[in-house]
Amino acid sequence: MTAFPTRRLRRLRGTSALRRLSAEHHLVPSQLVLPVFVKEGIAASQPIGSMPGVSQHPLEKIAEVVDEAAAAGIGGVMLFGVPASRNAVGSGATDPDGILNRAIAVAKDAAAGRLTVQADLCLDEFTDHGHCGVLAADGTVDNDATLPIYAAMGVAQARAGADILGLSGMMDGQVAAVRAALDEAGFAHVAILAYSAKYASAFYGPFRDAVESTLDGDRRTYQMDPANAREGIEEALFDIAEGADVVMVKPAMPYLDVLARVSDRSSVPVWAYQVSGEYAMIEHAASAGLIDRERAIDESLLGIRRAGADVILTYWAIEVAGWLRAGK
Ligand code: PBG
Repeated sequence: MTAFPTRRLRRLRGTSALRRLSAEHHLVPSQLVLPVFVKEGIAASQPIGSMPGVSQHPLEKIAEVVDEAAAAGIGGVMLFGVPASRNAVGSGATDPDGILNRAIAVAKDAAAGRLTVQADLCLDEFTDHGHCGVLAADGTVDNDATLPIYAAMGVAQARAGADILGLSGMMDGQVAAVRAALDEAGFAHVAILAYSAKYASAFYGPFRDAVESTLDGDRRTYQMDPANAREGIEEALFDIAEGADVVMVKPAMPYLDVLARVSDRSSVPVWAYQVSGEYAMIEHAASAGLIDRERAIDESLLGIRRAGADVILTYWAIEVAGWLRAGK
């Protein structure tokens, strides 16, 4: 007769060696992706006030950033462009000389096959009104008029050398439209990452600073309502049916339930975007002395992994890859 309790779950927690052996989930550098901001017309990198540790970079700095990312062993960079001028239809997005397309070419060259070059495919950084699509006469975002522009943007990004296109605009039918255009233009090999369950979130606040967003209002007519989970799964399944190679849930931490459910149902890889507000919250709480910065970062990323993300887009990608390499 053994003494109570017979079942002792603490046995596997007793030493760091036991804990390491028992860990169900791990972070690996190759499954982290770094978002990178490229700004037209600046001479030197400029820190983003709302995101301590993150900068906007001039085109001339991109090769160096990509080189650092590759040396860290991370899986890719996700490029965002901040153009010098904007207009109603976001022409800078489809122009081969537009800042984002030029940055893709530079990044692709610098990467030399060591990591993937990914590009944000959305109009919000390129339109003067700041919406993710073009506007109809009544001021609403015109879904179907936006699709051909996304298609042209996708082809321009593929031509510049992007390996993976991140479709973040939340227009219905965008994956099918971009896939058809890519195939038609000879880019059948270029992959589509669909931001499928992308919520209209307050946690994008610091990002809007990073891309100097001109948006007045919100994106609730196209991004998802935070109240809905089932709809997020439907969005992901639709995108897979339309040809998405990867589906994503965004933001990550407030939507771990959606991530877990999409991950259970998806037949393709599932990624998550730990967005600017999630980043800023931890950085600011840590600098106020409220939490242990490194442990909070590690825990936040592990939580996202545990919920089912294969790959995580995070502004800490290079730093965390460094810890992992150092065996921390
Ligand atoms: C749209 C886009 C946004 C983010 C990534 N792609 C902003 C938005 O939808 O308003 C947010 C990323 C972040 O907050 O870190 N181009």
